[in-house]
Amino acid sequence: QIYSRIIATGSALPERVVTNADLEKIVDTSDEWIRTRTGIRQRHIAADGETTGDLAFRAAQQALEAAGVKASELDLIVLGTTTPDIIFPSTACLVQDRLGANGCAAFDVNAACSGFMYALGIADKFIKSGQSKKALVIGAETLTRMVDWGERETCVLFGDGAGAVVLEAASEPGIYATCLHADGGYKELLWNPVGVSAGFKDEPNHGVRIRMAGREVFKVAVKTLDSLVGETLQAAGMDESQVDWLIPHQANLRIIEATAKRLNMSMERVIVTVDKHANTSSGSVPLALDYAVRSGKVQRGQNLLLEAFGGGFTWASALLRY
Ligand code: ACO
Repeated sequence: QIYSRIIATGSALPERVVTNADLEKIVDTSDEWIRTRTGIRQRHIAADGETTGDLAFRAAQQALEAAGVKASELDLIVLGTTTPDIIFPSTACLVQDRLGANGCAAFDVNAACSGFMYALGIADKFIKSGQSKKALVIGAETLTRMVDWGERETCVLFGDGAGAVVLEAASEPGIYATCLHADGGYKELLWNPVGVSAGFKDEPNHGVRIRMAGREVFKVAVKTLDSLVGETLQAAGMDESQVDWLIPHQANLRIIEATAKRLNMSMERVIVTVDKHANTSSGSVPLALDYAVRSGKVQRGQNLLLEAFGGGFTWASALLRY
């Protein structure tokens, strides 16, 4: 039996930090409202010209360096994003060339905020099947490029960033289980309904902006994540007490707290970065993972439960031994 194992992590954030106080100057909001509703205190925002691919490249370089793996050794790159640099080639191809990993398989996955979890699930299957030996999995976004800075309901929620992991084939887990799901019936609760084939609009930013029914998204997210973590434990043959850390998608502290409660986990065993990064969509879970590893919280041999929920709706998880 072949398993996949995370051998190293990396991440990248834009330099510019925008605090809640900064947003008070551009929309009718308050630090107090944002903090109590979401847990967010600040977010990083990409500079003009700084792209998803730039952040992904930096995160990937850091992960490869930490792994002691040369780019030329990679046989797969999977990149989760909903904000690719350009329509094609994929951002995975752009990053592959910059890393010097030319020749290996490389593609993007669009599963909105669950993009990294989907990418990890796919790369795990490539390794388990024997198709790949060393894979780079990235979650990267410049979601603020979609933000309407005049709309207080959404503009306070998002940030930019990227995280990456290097996966390697191993004789022991590694990844015990991944679960991937989607329900396109919910598309209109969280979406961006313009694009190449549907057409753009004669509106600011060509009509590109995040549309979200926040309260409904919140409710479905809590309920869905509740059953997702149960399913994941079952798939891995574990119970709550065997999970050392929950590393959740960082959209809203209240959603995170609800999932922790479902797992009977105290918040001391939950990695929280939403206060500093806000919701970076596909970037969120690998950014939180890299923070957890580099800060020394997560140790080798511990069991981690990773999960995400996003537009589609999509939801996905992984239970792994780090
Ligand atoms: N500042 C001040 N007031 C605001 C703001 C703001 N930024 N945004 C909305 N309000 C007002 C509303 O207008 C409303 O006013 P009203 O009562 O006079 O009508 C009031 O605050 C309450 O609005 P709600 O939308 O009901 O507030 P809620 O407590 O549901 O919080 C939030 C909103 C934070 C969006 C929450 O519903 C949420 O987190 N939902 C999950 C959605 C999410 O996280 N989406 C991100 C992408 S999806 C994902 O990754 C999970």
